[in-house]
Amino acid sequence: MSLASCRNFKDFRALARRRLPSPIFHYIDGAADDEVTYRRNTEAYETCDLVPSVLAGVETVDMSTTIFGKKLAMPLYCAPTALQRLFHPDGERAVARAAQKYGTMFGVSSLGTVSVEEIGAMIDTPKMFQFYFHKDRGLNDSMIERAKAAQFDVMALTVDTITGGNRERDLHTGFTSPPRLTFKSLFSFAARPRWAVNYLIHPKMELPHLQEHVQEGTNLATSIGSYFSTMLDQSMSWKDAEAIRAKWGGHFALKGVMSVADARRAVDIGCTGIMVSNHGGRQLDGSRSPFDQLAEIVDAVGDKIDVICEGGIQRGSHVLKALSLGAKACSGGRLYLYALAAAGQPGVERALGLMRDEIERDMKLMGARSVGDLNRGNLRFR
Ligand code: LAC
Repeated sequence: MSLASCRNFKDFRALARRRLPSPIFHYIDGAADDEVTYRRNTEAYETCDLVPSVLAGVETVDMSTTIFGKKLAMPLYCAPTALQRLFHPDGERAVARAAQKYGTMFGVSSLGTVSVEEIGAMIDTPKMFQFYFHKDRGLNDSMIERAKAAQFDVMALTVDTITGGNRERDLHTGFTSPPRLTFKSLFSFAARPRWAVNYLIHPKMELPHLQEHVQEGTNLATSIGSYFSTMLDQSMSWKDAEAIRAKWGGHFALKGVMSVADARRAVDIGCTGIMVSNHGGRQLDGSRSPFDQLAEIVDAVGDKIDVICEGGIQRGSHVLKALSLGAKACSGGRLYLYALAAAGQPGVERALGLMRDEIERDMKLMGARSVGDLNRGNLRFR
């Protein structure tokens, strides 16, 4: 199997599985408890069908969308995700360049492995900084200041990680950041010599936004679940979110809003967008999927702020369905992370390119000349 033979999400996943030591693959691939929510995130798209219009003159299709005042060339962007240099030595550098090539937004995580300064200097397309509210107030202030100075366009405060999800695959494999060499993990690293050599010959993985403030994750091995549970501030409230928004001063979103009441409150505290998301099913198993919850949230706040549908997207048709319900854009993590692990920047470019092609093809087949042509009239629930 090679990059050229990857045609969809499942293919990239299969190639990533061959390239990555199993604890790292399962960190990306896994979710919470029985992973019911993780599966539902994608299955939800099969509860409805697209109803195409014909003879619409679709020789040119405009799939651009505007969120947070920025025009994206395609209505799908790379959600912020952690630890990317663990998956491929280029990490965020590869994803940022691929996102720039497709004119879409790139999100850098608080737990990112390339700094906001470097990404800010590297690409001129829209950038989002994902913010975790830590107990360490000095760290929080430093991240806000750095993202501001690096001229990031949007800040997204994650609100669905108030404590660590129960990621049993990580508990089983012993996955930590940085990876810990144990008797068991040694075998999984030795089984992927290409990854192991890359990991050893490239500069050590760092967490540049955190490491001057906290040791965990950089010098002290920790699971992501326990990082959330011990380092983030569980007292975080609406007041804190509003204060962070005020300090940031620019476009601001809550990432992980799932209820109509919370979406309304996000508007009240001055958010300009929300990500309807359950963190890829990695936190609260048994929670509802973003697509299932999208319509009622769009009905409540869609005319006031940008509603983004995040999670479970594996096909262009999924994006079309979310846009038909009123999402302004979609985002995903695994959909580019497997490709990053499989083949670095060319991998991410291929994944985004295939999604772009699918969106364009499906828009033509739907008779939609622009994303504004997609609406609930072209969707039927079963
Ligand atoms: C995760 C965090 C780090 O889900 O976003 O692993």
